[in-house]
Amino acid sequence: MSKDLENQVALVTGGARGIGKAIALLLAQRGASVGIVDVTEAGASTASELTSTTESPVSFFLADISQETEARKAVAEVEAALGPIDVLVNNAGITRDGLLLTMDEEDWDAVLAVNLKGAFLMSKAVLRGMVKRRHGSIINISSVVGRRGNAGQANYSAAKAGLIGFTKSLAREVASRNVRVNAVAPGYIETDMTAALDEKTRAVLIGQIPLGRIGRPEAVAEAVVFLAGDSASFITGSVLAVDGGLGI
Ligand code: NAI
Repeated sequence: MSKDLENQVALVTGGARGIGKAIALLLAQRGASVGIVDVTEAGASTASELTSTTESPVSFFLADISQETEARKAVAEVEAALGPIDVLVNNAGITRDGLLLTMDEEDWDAVLAVNLKGAFLMSKAVLRGMVKRRHGSIINISSVVGRRGNAGQANYSAAKAGLIGFTKSLAREVASRNVRVNAVAPGYIETDMTAALDEKTRAVLIGQIPLGRIGRPEAVAEAVVFLAGDSASFITGSVLAVDGGLGI
């Protein structure tokens, strides 16, 4: 595998498991030093697993990225341990599904806080350094439901659609400083988030996907790593769908 990200430092939020773990693994395999920032201690064993399966250092930093002081501290700790951050992947996300009429304010706030505000806080914390160094790439993990909407996910869809607006605005703000900002919008991906689906729901979902299958976390990781590196040096403000055609 090419080591085109050697000497690069990447921070992946929510990298303890699922899509974030696949992203951290591929970044490390491509030579980057990776900081996993996650709210669960499970990130520690993920980091040691990835360090032993790749030749790159992968370290874990415990933080709730929806809290400004914790987000800033995590960025400072990653930079102290691994060096200035070249790539930020805002992947941490949660769902609190329910129809709007029965959705609690708390469910709305929690989903917006992690999925949208977390990306704002983390981006702000890394941006000063990136702008100063005239180099950086930020990738936000949105979702097909941020583009199409989904009954029962008004909070999550709003956050994921918000991330697309955030991506495009920030891309315009920092393009002149050679900092690129893009989004990846996955469709249904095989992770803990989708494992809970019963067989019937699963079959219905697959029936809606033109490629006829649920995606793998590795497919999202490939898109992220592409956007992170020099192959995407002329790409900013884009939203790359990795959804088997679901969003067509
Ligand atoms: P997951 O639930 O398996 O992993 C999410 C990770 O984020 C966990 O390790 C969790 O501890 C961490 N996290 C949650 N809140 C946090 C916080 N406040 N601070 C730091 N870390 C936090 O989720 P999955 O499926 O891997 O999803 C990753 C991203 O991809 C999310 O943004 C999700 O919305 C998005 N996505 C997932 C899809 C899927 O089908 N699984 C489809 C489209 C988008």
